[in-house]
Amino acid sequence: MRRQKVSLIGAGNVGASCALWLAKRGICDLVLVDIPQAKTMPVGKGLDLLQTGPIEGYNARIRGNADGSYEGTENSDVVIITGGLPRKPGMSREDLVRANQAVITDVLNKALPLSPDAIYIVVTNPLDTMTYLAHKHSKLPRNRIIGQAGILDSARMAAFVAQELNVSIENVQTVVLGGHGDEMVPLTRYSTVFGRPLTEWLPADKLNAIVERTRKGGGEIVNLLGTSAYYAPGAALAKMAEAVLLDSKLIAPCSALLQGEYGLSDICFGVPVKLGANGIEEIIEYKLTDDEKAMADKSVKIIRETMGALKF
Ligand code: NAI
Ligand code: 2OP
Repeated sequence: MRRQKVSLIGAGNVGASCALWLAKRGICDLVLVDIPQAKTMPVGKGLDLLQTGPIEGYNARIRGNADGSYEGTENSDVVIITGGLPRKPGMSREDLVRANQAVITDVLNKALPLSPDAIYIVVTNPLDTMTYLAHKHSKLPRNRIIGQAGILDSARMAAFVAQELNVSIENVQTVVLGGHGDEMVPLTRYSTVFGRPLTEWLPADKLNAIVERTRKGGGEIVNLLGTSAYYAPGAALAKMAEAVLLDSKLIAPCSALLQGEYGLSDICFGVPVKLGANGIEEIIEYKLTDDEKAMADKSVKIIRETMGALKF
């Protein structure tokens, strides 16, 4: 049987971190690609990751390409688009839209002809808008392009909950839907610790503080690092790729192109989806209360404003 292959287009912080998380899973080979200006940087990172194998006990064949070459990405099972500018302090995700539109179209123009059957995962910000752009530009069936946001945002919330309650993260399950921005939609009613809703574990003020910290979680790290997060984003991407490669039917919050679900159309929005070999195999609809619907409406408004900055 042919070993499955994942190509990471963009060998920066998120791309390299995702490559390591995936290599350690031992389920695929990896190719790292970047722009010509990155010269031999992806080659160096690929070699470093290959040499990590004997220590960590993985057999992944890993290569990095010099000078912007896509050689070796042919017939990838999953292509992860990790190229693009990261947020800098004081910069919103929306500020990135123009620069990163050029990146997404460039990557798709080069990757698609070589891997026409792959599942494409987007992480580039502003995430929901870039995922939408990838749909419009590629015209692929909607199950084959998935945006990464909700796994990361839910993980941030789960980490804060586990810390606050002093419980194992194994007991915590959190659900964050909506756009990947400060108006994301953390659903406390559907988030649980050992099956009991968070609303029964924490007083409103503590819960609200966690919700707000989750919403600003990306910015908190940008201010600390001077660039955006990469360990957790890389791990979230690896989890999505794993679900596709292993056809595991994982239900996870991802940015999907909606066509009527949640009363929304022609927008990419974070919703629970089932991930398997065909990418998004099902979009799962949760019933929202009026308050939750109002939060979602705010998030939609921001995404639509950002989408307005796209140039077709
Ligand atoms: P980085 O600057 O470390 O790496 C980005 C890499 O992309 C660079 O090596 C750059 O040369 C490369 N690149 C630029 N244009 C390219 C092109 N046309 N083709 C191939 N490669 C290209 O940035 P980092 O931290 O890895 O972030 C990457 C993107 O992911 C940013 O847009 C960032 O905002 C986003 N991000 C999204 C998250 C999410 O949850 N959706 C979380 C963290 C980052
Ligand atoms: C994050 O949430 C900035 O989208 C990036 O870490």
